[in-house]
Amino acid sequence: MVRRLIQGLCFGSLLATAGADQVPDLLAADSECASEECTLNALQRHALLKKEPVAKMYGQCGGAKWKGPTNCEDGGKCVKNNDWYSQCEPEAAAAAPAPSPEPAETNKAKEETEEPAPTKTMAPLPARPKQPVPKTYETLNPIIARGNFLYDSVTGKRFFAKGVAYNPRNEKYDHSFGNSVQIAGWVDKCVPGTPKGGYWGYTADVIEDDKEEFWTEDLEAMADMGANTIRLYNLDPRKSHAKFMKKAASLGIYVIVPLTGKDYGFLPAFPAPECYTKDLEDYGNVGVNLLGFAKTLMKEFSQYNNTLLFTAANELAQLDKNGYAAFPCVKAFVRDLHNYQADCAESMRKVPLIYSDVDTGGGIARKVVADYLTCALDSDADAVDAYGLNVYSWCDETYPGDGKADNFQYSPYKDIKQDFEDFSVPFIFSEFGCNLGKFKTKCPYPDGRTWPDVKHFLGEDMGQFMSGAIAFQWSMDKEEYGLTLSPGFLAGQDKLYLLDNYFNLQKQYKKYDVNSTWDAPAGEVDKCSFVPSDVAPMEYKHKRPACPSKELWMKVQHEKRVDKVVDWSASWPSWRTAVNFGWLVPNMPFPFAIA
Ligand SMILES: *[C@@H]1O[C@H](CO)[C@@H](O)[C@H](O)[C@H]1NC(C)=O
Ligand SMILES: *[C@@H]1O[C@H](CO)[C@@H](O)[C@H](O)[C@H]1NC(C)=O
Repeated sequence: MVRRLIQGLCFGSLLATAGADQVPDLLAADSECASEECTLNALQRHALLKKEPVAKMYGQCGGAKWKGPTNCEDGGKCVKNNDWYSQCEPEAAAAAPAPSPEPAETNKAKEETEEPAPTKTMAPLPARPKQPVPKTYETLNPIIARGNFLYDSVTGKRFFAKGVAYNPRNEKYDHSFGNSVQIAGWVDKCVPGTPKGGYWGYTADVIEDDKEEFWTEDLEAMADMGANTIRLYNLDPRKSHAKFMKKAASLGIYVIVPLTGKDYGFLPAFPAPECYTKDLEDYGNVGVNLLGFAKTLMKEFSQYNNTLLFTAANELAQLDKNGYAAFPCVKAFVRDLHNYQADCAESMRKVPLIYSDVDTGGGIARKVVADYLTCALDSDADAVDAYGLNVYSWCDETYPGDGKADNFQYSPYKDIKQDFEDFSVPFIFSEFGCNLGKFKTKCPYPDGRTWPDVKHFLGEDMGQFMSGAIAFQWSMDKEEYGLTLSPGFLAGQDKLYLLDNYFNLQKQYKKYDVNSTWDAPAGEVDKCSFVPSDVAPMEYKHKRPACPSKELWMKVQHEKRVDKVVDWSASWPSWRTAVNFGWLVPNMPFPFAIA
């Protein structure tokens, strides 16, 4: 179903111009669509869409003074009532009346781009303090999951991942896209440069040994920012990553390693084990022996002490509502990966597997999906060992109330606490750092985000159930989330440039630390099986959830309007069973081309 990858990205117009065989190329290369509405690379548009909050059904989505979201939630369309008020209405009802405001904007944008471009020069960027010589570590101990916390397996100290997402694409700023162009009266003062190393794109393996000259200074600056964890996105299992892992370890940095490639961590709504072994052209070939792909990465990265977690899948339902029918595939995939770890237990460290969900906000889906992926359906092996949420709801606002300037009770994280405070496995924000709201980036990006939420992660409000948070993201590109400008991003800027965004996060990461109340006492440290009840003055009450009832998983899939409701209680055969019974050919092609 090629359509799946394309719909919602370029609204179908790619389909008109591309044959099925071209689609993986379209996604990998920075291709442009033929139609005007779709001049963005599909991945860029996805990235934009996924970061933007949406207005609720029948909520306001536009109007002269409106500063909130202008896109509607799934199934809704923004309908203009008058110049002052537009509201979200169900798509079917909205189909006929009321012109959307888009055509006018498109024309305006077009007029602007047709004006002759004035020659611009750029003022030099403000000077930065010299980076100190980084602190280095001789050894770094593996981190283990116990109950719903992470611990240093040697010292027994509780571990909190102060993280940053690392996916530099070398995508230079070219004024065609980004938040700054949407700010009335904003005069852009930037001149794009030529990124060092050229354009890499979303799916590049940015940490392979051959890219050492690019990632070395990034790693050192991350360490100095106070980060102890990096989240990665796309790796090529045919490449070596030994140099990167060693350098990261020497700086005290752990790494969250993706086991899926090419896409965002997607798995199709298709029975296991074919959903992660078979070459499914209709799914953009994402499933081409994904199990072999993942095992190869597991084998390499399990040997490094500083591999923190393996991401088994990510944001299944972000690109496609039918992701809600594909969670059984995640469970089966996780089970087969756990079986592989068990088979290799003598020579392979059991690194915890995490699933990273898109934050769907209120409603039942967030909790039902989390319970499903952490429950034991057939056995513990089909449950993930840790859980992540990619959260973009605290947009640099403060939430005043009850005489406090920044009151957690009024913040969007309060609901998340409700859903996850009694969670059975370590819970992290696998991405955070909304850049909408009061703050908008304006190239060359003065001020930046202030990260007021960090103190809550580590403090009383969330410190009892969170084990990490990954700031999105290290490098600037068209999405404008960057903490830094990669060398050559702007004209005349040849070195890595640290933005105010970076220094603001540094302040937060260095100021707050994980509460030592739950560190393991010395006597417990050598035990292989300690649980929080042994090590901390807190009651161990975080039991594995029961798997959601049929009523609940039907409700979620119906609400999300999946094309075909899938049975979440079915047990699917493992890869090995399928091979033994001759349903599958064991030697799937590998290695294979990945973009
Ligand atoms: C890896 O961790 C073990 C403890 O489990 C430690 O003895 C060893 O020195 C560490 N290795 C490195 C390279 O840090
Ligand atoms: C650590 O947590 C305990 C229990 O919630 C609390 O009493 C204590 O004040 C916390 N300490 C710090 C430094 O936040």
